[in-house]
Amino acid sequence: MASIDDIDATKRYRTEKDHEYFETIDEVFNAYTWRSLLSLMNKGVIDEVLGPIAQGKEARVILAKDKNGSYIALKIYYTTTSTFIKSRYKYIIGDPRFKNKKIKKDIIDIVEAWCRKEYGNLSAAYKAGVKTPRPIALEDNIIAMEFIGEGIAPAPTLSEVGLEGLEDPDEIFWEILRNVERSYIIAKLVHADLSEFNILYYRGDIRVIDWGSAVKREHPLALEFLARDLNNIFRFFGVGLDGARVAGLIAERASGPYEEDEEGWLIVGGKRLYEEIEELS
Ligand SMILES: Nc1ncnc2c1ncn2[C@@H]1O[C@H](COP(=O)(O)OP(=O)(O)OP(=O)(O)O)[C@@H](O)[C@H]1O
Ligand SMILES: [Mg+2]
Repeated sequence: MASIDDIDATKRYRTEKDHEYFETIDEVFNAYTWRSLLSLMNKGVIDEVLGPIAQGKEARVILAKDKNGSYIALKIYYTTTSTFIKSRYKYIIGDPRFKNKKIKKDIIDIVEAWCRKEYGNLSAAYKAGVKTPRPIALEDNIIAMEFIGEGIAPAPTLSEVGLEGLEDPDEIFWEILRNVERSYIIAKLVHADLSEFNILYYRGDIRVIDWGSAVKREHPLALEFLARDLNNIFRFFGVGLDGARVAGLIAERASGPYEEDEEGWLIVGGKRLYEEIEELS
């Protein structure tokens, strides 16, 4: 039997006809994605691909196994059916004035840049001690990370569990705030797409996922995004706090030196965030 080393997916990708490339949609991975998967196999990151866990607008999450038999999650970005192509390239693709080859290359470049950004953000957050899946590898349009779940069942999102499904909603609420502050002060990041849809509920704890939209603290809209993230959380938990005010508090705290306590709170100027929030009301 031919080994995967014998398959030159690169060559196939180059010789494939453009229209065929674009017609390879949805259920079937295109040659480019196959090549990325094969690279991850050759590098020993994945041993077996098991099947889809979730399907989003721009990516699909797949369950796989590593060499030790542990489950890992692969977030694979589409390069042929992304909303980006549908919205922007729908009219261009059929237009003979545009060379398909160039468009194809542009799309792949954009998707790869997005994946690098998401993987970089995830890694920075994880390194800062934010509760995220552990990043494992990045390959073109594929992000490999720790699988969060029991057996083959992925952990539910907070939106799936609902407020009433949480064992200790109060603890989860403050855990999220601790993680938001840690992202801002230590990882110097704002998630920017934080809500009950991007937080997994796992063994009575949380994991924050989906870091593709995250921005650096220096981003001109960082504070606005932070306020919006916080408002999403306040809304989910039915807490009457103002996202902009709490965002302002966190930003102020970022300018001073910090210590950490055993619960994971950052202590700035002798105070923890929850103490400052209590003083607000
Ligand atoms: N590391 C992981 N372990 C277990 N499940 C995961 C993991 N990462 C993602 N998932 C599952 O895949 C879903 C989609 O992941 P993610 O939010 O990163 O992608 P997305 O592109 O935002 O998808 P959507 O368009 O649905 O928002 C999650 O809601 C979760 O169910
Ligand atoms: Mg998501």
